[in-house]
Amino acid sequence: MTDANQQSKGLALVTGGSGGLGRAIASRLGSDGYFVIVHYNSNSKSADETAAAIRANGGRAQSLGFDVSQAAQIESALDGFSKEHPNLSWDVLVNNAGRHNDTLVGFMSDDAFDSVMKTNAYGPFYLMRYFVKKMMRKRSGAIVNISSLAGQTGNPGQFNYAASKAALIAMTKTLAMEVGSRGIRVNAVAPGLIETEMIEEIPQLEEMKKRIPLGRLGAAKEVAGAVSFLCSPDSSYITGATLSVNGGMFPA
Ligand SMILES: NC(=O)c1ccc[n+]([C@@H]2O[C@H](COP(=O)([O-])OP(=O)(O)OC[C@H]3O[C@@H](n4cnc5c(N)ncnc54)[C@H](OP(=O)(O)O)[C@@H]3O)[C@@H](O)[C@H]2O)c1
Repeated sequence: MTDANQQSKGLALVTGGSGGLGRAIASRLGSDGYFVIVHYNSNSKSADETAAAIRANGGRAQSLGFDVSQAAQIESALDGFSKEHPNLSWDVLVNNAGRHNDTLVGFMSDDAFDSVMKTNAYGPFYLMRYFVKKMMRKRSGAIVNISSLAGQTGNPGQFNYAASKAALIAMTKTLAMEVGSRGIRVNAVAPGLIETEMIEEIPQLEEMKKRIPLGRLGAAKEVAGAVSFLCSPDSSYITGATLSVNGGMFPA
């Protein structure tokens, strides 16, 4: 990374930077030259380690904790960060934090539905609302929402999760239409099966792997590469799009 590359880039917030995919995305955007906010909810240790690794690699990063389902927490944490770093430009938001709570619809509690929607759909809503105000003032910015193959196709046992991830694709398209004229691009990435802790519990994983045309699970860094592309000038004419990173695993 060159000094010039570093100085020209502002901040990139990666929510869920303490998790498997978020760690890879934060590291990649750190190498791309952004000042990365490595966000966590409960796992501050992991976010601290990722931020330290980015700094050790010559980049700029710090960890920051908040619950994405709580608008007041988001605003207080980001207002505080903004005051500490008044000269950083708000360049990139990656809505990556997410959770699942799987069961068949007949057995799904209100809380299982609400809590997944609050984290996966309300959280990105609160954050996009906060960021677009900053980005509209400077007439530039890139937002990338991490959706899921489940949001494109549906998935038995993931009624709440699939609904939240489909909502994220609809939000992506709509916000792209609203803010395109202000130079802000909004895109989604829809990963398929990526090797992280989130998929370790899937009982039918071996069976599902056979349906992946590329014949293997994806790596977190392959999702990070797609995010990096959607934040970069190489994707300057792409907005409102959903980029599938799934090894070709589309439904029949
Ligand atoms: N792995 C896959 O195959 C796959 C496929 C498709 C889509 N995705 C999506 O990719 C994203 C990352 O997945 P992953 O595999 O990296 O999962 P992960 O390792 O379980 O990480 C989830 C992250 O979300 C954060 N988080 C959860 N609830 C939160 C809340 N209420 N407020 C703030 N942060 C919260 C966690 O923070 P703490 O740990 O600090 O609490 C953690 O950093 C998710 O949105 C997921 O739906 C993953």
